[in-house]
Amino acid sequence: MSDEALEILATETRLFPPSREFANQANAKKELYEQAQNNPLEFWDEQADRLQWDTRWQQTLDWSDAPVSKWFVGGKLNVAVNCVDRHVENGNGDRIAFYFEGEPGDSETITYQQLKDRVCQAANGLTQLGIKSGDRVAIYMPMIPQAVIAMLACARIGATHSVVFGGFSAEALRSRIEDANATHVITSDGGFRKGSAFALKSAVDEAVKDLAFVQKVLVVKRTAQEVSWDAKRDVWWDEVVDTQSTAHNPEFFDAEHPLFILYTSGTTGKPKGILHTTGGYLTQVSYTHNVVFDIKPATDIYWCTADVGWITGHSYVAYGPTSNGATQVIYEGTPDTPHKARWWEIVEKYGVTILYTAPTAIRTFMKWGDEFPAAHNLSSLRLLGSVGESINPEAWIWYRETIGAGKCPIVDTWWQTETGGIMISPLPGVTDCKPGSAMRPLPGISAEILNESGEVLSHNGHAGYLSLTKPWPGMLRGIWGDMERFRENYWSKFEGKYFAGDGAKWDTDGAIWLLGRVDDVMNVSGHRISTTEVESALVSHPMVAEAAVVGANDEMTGQGIVAFVILRAGSVDGPDVAKTLRDHVAKEIGAIAKPRQIMIVPELPKTRSGKIMRRLLRDVAENRTLGDVTTLADSAVMNLISAGLSATTTED
Ligand code: WT7
Repeated sequence: MSDEALEILATETRLFPPSREFANQANAKKELYEQAQNNPLEFWDEQADRLQWDTRWQQTLDWSDAPVSKWFVGGKLNVAVNCVDRHVENGNGDRIAFYFEGEPGDSETITYQQLKDRVCQAANGLTQLGIKSGDRVAIYMPMIPQAVIAMLACARIGATHSVVFGGFSAEALRSRIEDANATHVITSDGGFRKGSAFALKSAVDEAVKDLAFVQKVLVVKRTAQEVSWDAKRDVWWDEVVDTQSTAHNPEFFDAEHPLFILYTSGTTGKPKGILHTTGGYLTQVSYTHNVVFDIKPATDIYWCTADVGWITGHSYVAYGPTSNGATQVIYEGTPDTPHKARWWEIVEKYGVTILYTAPTAIRTFMKWGDEFPAAHNLSSLRLLGSVGESINPEAWIWYRETIGAGKCPIVDTWWQTETGGIMISPLPGVTDCKPGSAMRPLPGISAEILNESGEVLSHNGHAGYLSLTKPWPGMLRGIWGDMERFRENYWSKFEGKYFAGDGAKWDTDGAIWLLGRVDDVMNVSGHRISTTEVESALVSHPMVAEAAVVGANDEMTGQGIVAFVILRAGSVDGPDVAKTLRDHVAKEIGAIAKPRQIMIVPELPKTRSGKIMRRLLRDVAENRTLGDVTTLADSAVMNLISAGLSATTTED
């Protein structure tokens, strides 16, 4: 959206204050803001006290080694005990932890008692396979209960998991396994998507074939498809896990023990392994899940539609909700299988009260039409959430009216893989909502918007860089194996402040508007993909001499990937070229990184120093008249590019 449009919305948009009914019962209280402001460390102590600790911490925050923070220093706890055992001990063993809905229509109900038994069995199984505290375990799974059980079992024994989204390719999986030196991989034969079974085990086979340090591959049987088998390396989950004792004595780990690594795209070709630790992370996700989603564990049915392969699935499926003893839905498949009302059927079937999803999904449902949600009873819903990119006001209003019957507060939650938990969001029942704005930093969180020279911008509508100015418990502790990149990436632009990579502004009411990435990172359907990563994938194909990739506005996905490619001498452009290259990117990274369009061009616009002028390419990709071209080394280039377009555009 243009700045002007935002400006208008910022000043003219309607405010949606919380209803009295909602406010009266809300978990969040207005006083939280002040409390956190006046006594930040005490505030975080209180949040940490919501968890069960084996040894209490001596110091809330040690910031002496900034930008690496230590939280709850000296404290010890076990994440799985917090997310599972304590609910059973508190008499809630019969409460449903998960309603699993498989895409083919199979379903399974898992109580907290059953979850405890299964996590303990998995912990015993992983131990039997030789996994010890501190080892890295890669998890490459569809959205099935065993994915969450595997994560919780790793946490239980102190193994650091690295979940790799099941949509990533064998090559992407290989580089992540290698970077983290994961000794074990947990996967499944495959999963169900779009009405048929897809394979995962074969990608693992491909990924680990030259990685001698990978000792065992543990395989869940989900689809019963044929898999190839290495008897020395591969073991079945039902043989190694389901046969174990359900008794397991948990060990307690230091608050700073590494809990997981999750890879995310940066501005270079190599994904960053974002490192999160134990006590601070769990404190933050548990606190935010409680206040932002207003969770009432005894009565709510919560559904976050994210896959565990992303941070949202870590913080708001695997850890936050379970730490609060919530009942949740997990769904394996796509929203239009077998019909376009599948999600609404699920909401009705389970009586979902809280729904957390992404703007790209909301826009897709808008396009499909109101008849699909209208065919189901959605009156159980009482709170809606959005994450992944700014939600455009039109989609916000549709979500509120058509899904939320005009009565549900909408929490637009801004955060990142790096922040661990939600940072900016309205507090339902407390904060007013404005369609399109994430409103304000949560209690305990300090954000500023800075201009290029680091000056703090006030509530005046001027766009700048979003920065987080005080440490928070769930913050990343580093980039796995590359602490220099950690400092450089997040802490060098503004002295002592965390640079998020997002543009933002405050409107005159003091509401924050997120304006998109300011670096070479694209946001496609709420997923982060770096332009450089896609460029590297393209130039690794023998036909390609040079490539430049930009994110162009896309009505459905937020941004779409548009690639400008120069072919090598001898490679001829033809109808198959774009398809070949798109398939090649899917093989190198995964289907989510496939360019929406590939344009074969004779030249790329460069400055005299040789830097590609992506701004001009974005103009072309978005069909705009070109901006300032005076810094172009060769001003004829853009004519050449514009003239040669169109023939090579492809779309699925
Ligand atoms: C980037 C982080 C946080 C979980 C999903 C993505 C964008 C995320 C919002 C929002 C505007 C948003 C930002 C951010 N983003 N939520 N509510 N409004 N932008 O996690 O892959 O780490 O990406 O997503 O650009 O930096 P991620």
